[in-house]
Amino acid sequence: MTELKNDTYLRALLRQPVDYTPVWMMRQAGRYLPEYREVRKGAGDFMSVCRDADLACEVTIQPLRRFPLDAAILFSDILTIPDAMGLGLYFETGEGPKFERPITCKADIDKIGIPDPEGELQYVMNAVRTIKKTLNGDVPLIGFSGSPWTLATYMIEGGSSKAFTKIKKMMFAEPQTLHLLLDKLADSVILYLNAQIAAGAQSVMVFDTWGGVLSPRDYKEFSLQYMAKIVDGLTRHNDGRKVPVTLFTKNAGMWLEDIAATGCDAVGLDWTIDIENAKARIGDKVALQGNMDPSMLYAPLPRIEQEVSKILSGFGEGGTGHVFNLGHGIHPDVNPDHAGHFIESVHRLSKPYHL
Ligand code: CP3
Repeated sequence: MTELKNDTYLRALLRQPVDYTPVWMMRQAGRYLPEYREVRKGAGDFMSVCRDADLACEVTIQPLRRFPLDAAILFSDILTIPDAMGLGLYFETGEGPKFERPITCKADIDKIGIPDPEGELQYVMNAVRTIKKTLNGDVPLIGFSGSPWTLATYMIEGGSSKAFTKIKKMMFAEPQTLHLLLDKLADSVILYLNAQIAAGAQSVMVFDTWGGVLSPRDYKEFSLQYMAKIVDGLTRHNDGRKVPVTLFTKNAGMWLEDIAATGCDAVGLDWTIDIENAKARIGDKVALQGNMDPSMLYAPLPRIEQEVSKILSGFGEGGTGHVFNLGHGIHPDVNPDHAGHFIESVHRLSKPYHL
């Protein structure tokens, strides 16, 4: 078993006692850090950083040099799987991710294969191995993937979207075709996450950024069903420890009971729900991750601290089973000192909840 100097994050996910509430930030490595922008400039672009294990490791560690974060997250992207399926991922400045060859019909789906994690995606596993070695047991390493539904939105829309008309057209006109794609994606995600775990990831998270654009019935059929399949297919013990799995659907406050029923260890919350309400509904089954509005980091430091304190008291009594985080990724124009104050406040203000 890899010795861990700080296992607070893993313990909180398993609802075991901890001394303080652990914290990490979605997108903690990224453009708000000048040292990240420097590395990306040197490499040329974002995917070149992802493809180089030493650079991916460097930017993963950067936020941990600045702040006492309780976990590191692999530096990569959810769109590595569709890229490995041959869709041709590229980034247009200011416009986010795009695909050269989006999915348009059943024939496109029949053509795509399930990527070999130690083949087309070996660069991701190499990054995991390098980061794990470099962390040297300081904090746990989080692996991740996109949810089948969220990956499919990018693959069918050809990039980011607001109304999701192309994928919804397929969903309502040809549901079986979409199911074929989602099933291939679920199988791919299972292999991909299990390979990350074998390479050293000590917990995994599934990002379902766009599940919240569905009706309750469609969410269950087209997103949650496939995340449940992933939870069932994951390696849940490795290297002498449980490997906790966190599911995060943005805008899913209405469906927390259904998410918790998948058998995941933790549910990620965005900021549109009170954590107190979430805890009352599912806190006896799973840990909760979240849930400060990332825009709160624009506020003056005392206001950030007040919000941290509100969220901690909302989770309340006992305190374990809570991993503090933002409700979505940190914005690129946030002052890093505000992020630092946020992290320090969580540690300081949470201690009384763990006596
Ligand atoms: O959290 C971390 O620090 C780990 C790294 C990480 C990235 N993307 C790096 C990244 C993680 C976990 C992701 C997940 C991801 N990627 C999601 C799910 C979470 C979410 O944010 O909703 C999604 C939907 C994507 C797809 C994606 N990748 C988009 C929409 C973009 C453009 C966003 C933007 O801000 O321009 C990316 C690119 C991306 N992924 C960047 C980073 C640091 C920015 C690249 C750059 O310009 O340097």
